[in-house]
Amino acid sequence: MIDELLTLLLARIITLLPNYLILLKKLEIGVFFFCWRSHRQAKNLPTFYGSLEDKLKEQAISEYSHAQIFCKLTGSTLNMTGAGLISREEKAAFDWGCVNWDTSGESYQVDGMSTRYLSAKVFFGFRTANSYGWCDRLAFMYVLEDFQALFYKQLLYFVPPEVQEELLPIAEDELTHAINIHASLWYIAGVERQQWLIFLWQVRKYSALACIPFDALYLYLSSLFQSSKVKLIKLIN
Ligand SMILES: [Fe+2]
Ligand SMILES: [Fe+2]
Repeated sequence: MIDELLTLLLARIITLLPNYLILLKKLEIGVFFFCWRSHRQAKNLPTFYGSLEDKLKEQAISEYSHAQIFCKLTGSTLNMTGAGLISREEKAAFDWGCVNWDTSGESYQVDGMSTRYLSAKVFFGFRTANSYGWCDRLAFMYVLEDFQALFYKQLLYFVPPEVQEELLPIAEDELTHAINIHASLWYIAGVERQQWLIFLWQVRKYSALACIPFDALYLYLSSLFQSSKVKLIKLIN
């Protein structure tokens, strides 16, 4: 119930930002990179229905397809497919964190997203997401995926019909990711440790959420600053 109210509020705040679809695209690209790298690190780690490595690869491709959908909604395209990117750039997973294959010509640094925003810093305890071991990693991935599924469902109330249509299957995918990760954590950590870890990461989640308004204000002010800068440049030219 509390999560439903929080995601509803968050969905309202995010949709006030003029560039919220670009923000969601960047978020999905960040998750893609995290899953891709995790898949490379998960060699020989079993889960109860196959290898964790394969499950994470599958999730990485799914996250990339979400980024592609948000990208198309903003009028541009990610030039490569997720599967193509993984197979062609297999070795680059760890040293290629700058995305510049967007047809809009935009490029941005994906690495360091876990330490860029105040809310992310608080959530990850001022450490990088990659610095955690497998049990913590799966626990926070579960907490985030579950929350993201709910957040996208609430976002449906505030977005235009063309975005709604694309967003609904994405929300369902996030729920599937959450269920798969929950099962993998249960297999690796056992029931009691799983419950304890999820509780700890839920506490981190609520602490991080308290910082979201500050991040939103910062993003809002920087997008205002950016658009005034563009107008000024046009005026000068
Ligand atoms: Fe996603
Ligand atoms: Fe996901």
